[in-house]
Amino acid sequence: MPTPATDSSSQRSLIGDAPESPRTVEIDLEAREGAWEIAPGQVVEGWMYNGQVPGPTIEARVGDTLVVRLKNSLREATTLHWHGVRLPADMDGTSLVQLTVGPGESFEYRFALVDAGTYWYHSHNNETVQVERGLYGALIVRDETEPVVDAEQVLVLDDILLDENGEFASFDGMQQRHDGRHGNTRLVNGRVGPEISIAAGQIERWRIVNASNARYILLSIGRPFRLLGTDGGLVEEPITMSDVLLTPGDRVDIAVGPFDEGDTVSLGSLPCGHAATEIEQFASIRVGERQASKAFIPDRLRTIERLAPCDALPTRQVLLGHTMSADGAVDFTINDEMHLNDHPATVGELQVWDILNNSHMDHPFHLHGFFFQVLSVDGVPPEFVSWEDTCNVPANSRVLIAWMPDDRPGRWMYHCHILEHHAAGMMASFEVVRPGERVMHAGPHSCHT
Ligand code: C2O
Ligand code: CU
Repeated sequence: MPTPATDSSSQRSLIGDAPESPRTVEIDLEAREGAWEIAPGQVVEGWMYNGQVPGPTIEARVGDTLVVRLKNSLREATTLHWHGVRLPADMDGTSLVQLTVGPGESFEYRFALVDAGTYWYHSHNNETVQVERGLYGALIVRDETEPVVDAEQVLVLDDILLDENGEFASFDGMQQRHDGRHGNTRLVNGRVGPEISIAAGQIERWRIVNASNARYILLSIGRPFRLLGTDGGLVEEPITMSDVLLTPGDRVDIAVGPFDEGDTVSLGSLPCGHAATEIEQFASIRVGERQASKAFIPDRLRTIERLAPCDALPTRQVLLGHTMSADGAVDFTINDEMHLNDHPATVGELQVWDILNNSHMDHPFHLHGFFFQVLSVDGVPPEFVSWEDTCNVPANSRVLIAWMPDDRPGRWMYHCHILEHHAAGMMASFEVVRPGERVMHAGPHSCHT
């Protein structure tokens, strides 16, 4: 039986090999309820794109224009967010920039893809429920020159919380609001404990997405692998690692192999102090018959210009915190406010944000629409430079990031990617304005079709 990771019907790419000139990649996505078979004979009530979880993997190349017609056949409103993609503000899929798409309505997303990398798309309305129930998928953007590998796999990791009847557990409760919704059922590409196959002797590129609401994954395959890329595409050089942290919303591209025939390997999460106390297995890896390899991973992948030194002067403070509300629930805040309205950033003016977490728990910080570089964590520069849209801000720590607003004015947001924290207030919106221009207070626009 084919495994989900290689099953061409569930994870087939929507476009095949195509000519080199920029194309328009058109896709229809219908959000609807349906039976989500997480294991043979084990079905939960999913909300999915085109009846599958993950939704179809969208593949395109830098320069292509992506056109996605979203039809909402759910019984509640939705929107579609393109996590990590540098697109125009009005295509970002938040309720800051568009009216939500009501039941029976449609919306067309259209934007050019400017950066190669591993992205994902997910609902951005009632996310704590809609993403948990399966409204997410991967978006792969390739460049003309990429490291040569023998094969590529897209692995979307998730964990869902089921009750004793095997249905989605209640979405309410103080604990979920406080800790985030940690699941009890781990999934890869929408399936429990699948088997991933790789030929002995070969090197594959695995594009990994953490689509879970709240789970931190300290990813390990029980032996070293090479990090090729992060949220915003390739790193400068492949980095040999034995594990890598994926917060909710994060992606990594890794080169795995070569393995020997008969090796038993598995993909799991090491204990990392985030609810996990033992190795949690996500998938087993079956090493098949030896095959020739054509893989070529250069020592130098690209050059990333440093935006700022590690001790750059901050231009903005972002304080992640929480307070107790009158009814005893925890409210999550930024600069002591829930759903903060933050001040504007000007196109072309370097942003150095000092993100301070004075709470006792880690928060994954996510900036929409722009990539940033981590300059330092508690004053210590990271071991390598990378482009990120999501990074961990450890408990009682400060993370300094830098990013440059390019000419895409409009309303943007940043938030904690533990979806329950986002919903409970840990988010802010702000305007990107052109120099000399005033903030426009236009409301969300509609372009329902
Ligand atoms: Cu991945 Cu505001 O989202
Ligand atoms: Cu958080």
